[in-house]
Amino acid sequence: MCGIVGYVGRRRLVPVVLEGLKRLEYRGYDSAGIVYLQDGKLTKYRSEGKLQNLESIMEEAIGAPAHIGLGHTRWATHGAPTTENAHPHSDCSGDIVVVHNGIIENYHSLRNELIEKGHHFASETDTEVLAHLIEEYLDGDLRAAVTKALARVEGSYALGVLWTGMPETLIAARNHSPLVLGVHEEEGGFLASDIPPLLPYTDQIIFLDDQELVVLKSDSHIIYSLVTGEVVEKKAQTISWNAGMAEKGGYKHFMLKEIYEQPQAIIDTVSGRINPENGSVTLSEMNLSDEDLAGIERIFLVACGTSWHAALVAKYWIERWAGIPVEVDIASEFRYRTLLIDEKVLTIAISQSGETADTLAGIRLAKELGSKIVIICNVVGSTMPREAHGTVYTHAGPEIGVASTKAFTSQLAALFLFTLYLAEKKGTMEAGKRIELGKELINVARVIEEMLPILQAEIKELIENYYDSRDFLFVGRGLNFPIALEGALKLKEISYIHAEGYASGELKHGPIALIDKDMPILGLTPKDAVYQKSISNVEEIKARQGLLILIGTEGDAHLKSITDDVIYLPEIHEELNPILYTIPAQLLAYEIASRRGCDVDQPRNLAKSVTVE
Ligand code: G6P
Repeated sequence: MCGIVGYVGRRRLVPVVLEGLKRLEYRGYDSAGIVYLQDGKLTKYRSEGKLQNLESIMEEAIGAPAHIGLGHTRWATHGAPTTENAHPHSDCSGDIVVVHNGIIENYHSLRNELIEKGHHFASETDTEVLAHLIEEYLDGDLRAAVTKALARVEGSYALGVLWTGMPETLIAARNHSPLVLGVHEEEGGFLASDIPPLLPYTDQIIFLDDQELVVLKSDSHIIYSLVTGEVVEKKAQTISWNAGMAEKGGYKHFMLKEIYEQPQAIIDTVSGRINPENGSVTLSEMNLSDEDLAGIERIFLVACGTSWHAALVAKYWIERWAGIPVEVDIASEFRYRTLLIDEKVLTIAISQSGETADTLAGIRLAKELGSKIVIICNVVGSTMPREAHGTVYTHAGPEIGVASTKAFTSQLAALFLFTLYLAEKKGTMEAGKRIELGKELINVARVIEEMLPILQAEIKELIENYYDSRDFLFVGRGLNFPIALEGALKLKEISYIHAEGYASGELKHGPIALIDKDMPILGLTPKDAVYQKSISNVEEIKARQGLLILIGTEGDAHLKSITDDVIYLPEIHEELNPILYTIPAQLLAYEIASRRGCDVDQPRNLAKSVTVE
């Protein structure tokens, strides 16, 4: 949450930082601010609300011949989302400015201490204590002052600091909040909470680790350990994403673009990992030996939000095909229950960003208890993969829309591959079956590609009867139960319609009481092993006059006898239905939210990457 951008180099500062913030706005959009240093003077612009508010007050500043500065987009934690609380925050003299992502947990006591020493606070934020603490310790050496200030701080931070006394240097540091450096000989030095702002300028990225500080100039960067004070040597990594990947490319919204990118994302995730000759799966970054794998007796899947839904699907797959018992946990719950974990447990965290605070804390705990850790992750070099024993990367490219789409289906593809991999190692699936299912994985991508435009048009028409509903239910069974949860989540997060997902068979234990002629229910009823049961459940809904939309298999005429609103999808191998049936659920949410005039890419109160607990 919160996005930080910093730049020092030959380019004009304001456009670089504004563009960078646009690419980070998914991290929070309660307020935004930019500061730059020019002719020894700091100029600060801040505005509450979305970035466009800030942009509108910065028209004159666009051409300012400043070449160093910082920017911030905020997801409010301490203090209301007002202009006064917008970053950057300053010290009393106004000569030090700070942008921060994270939470300073002991800010109350620090603030009181600083007030007693005569400091004046202008905001309610925890961040402002950092500016005053640095001021308190500053004695000509900014790095020393920041280091001393951070030694007093408890909590998480990624921060950028600029001081008039060092007009060519940015200082940045991180602890439990992400921060990356971009370096380029001619373009200069960049700083950001995530990779997309750096993509137009450089593919040379350095990921800062916890307790590291960097002194960044246009032509140099020196990284120090905050613990030992010593220089840390780090090599830049070359990133394969490009700038175009983080742009809308003609689509109205990132979410829609990302829905359409799913076939490619699945293919990229699967390609080269399964041998079509012998069905052997290669997951090169897994780093688990055959011995490690042989010793696994149970698997814990840990994740948040949409990634948790992917975990729920994977439980069905792994138990069925690899015969290993699987437990699935929401990361924020996992951490606070009694965990019976030891070295015979494999913990798999699923995270698009690799930075979600609860998931990260969960894997740290499991690691302490002796478990091997594997991450299913989309962001190369993010914190989780760096702390885990191994990673299976999804290759979905940058996902910008706050509501996750292509990351989810790519996670499913990666988890399915992982299932085949385990089944191969455990000897629970023959090569022929692996070859068949591997082919189906690619086939599902092709099927989605073909059906997408027609399906979108069909759903756009269908939602005319439903877009102003107050509530929505989504029901599914077996492998499609998690997709009902995911469909409901997508709808509620972007359209603000109250939506719940249920296991079809569970309806009669309570939710059926909600059904009347105004309640739309979307039922996932493919021709699969639990088809008959699913049909009985939707008949129960029909008997109570619920407004049914069914999504089922092409050619299943019976569905039309239950309701007029049927969306037909091609028949594929039923194991992969969760990937296919996600697509209409995403489109339904997208079309309803658009029809209601909601801000699809930036739904209220949400942020894409939740780096606070
Ligand atoms: C936030 C996002 C969700 C995402 C969840 C977990 O809530 O809005 O879209 O599913 O975090 O994120 P992760 O990066 O760990 O998958």
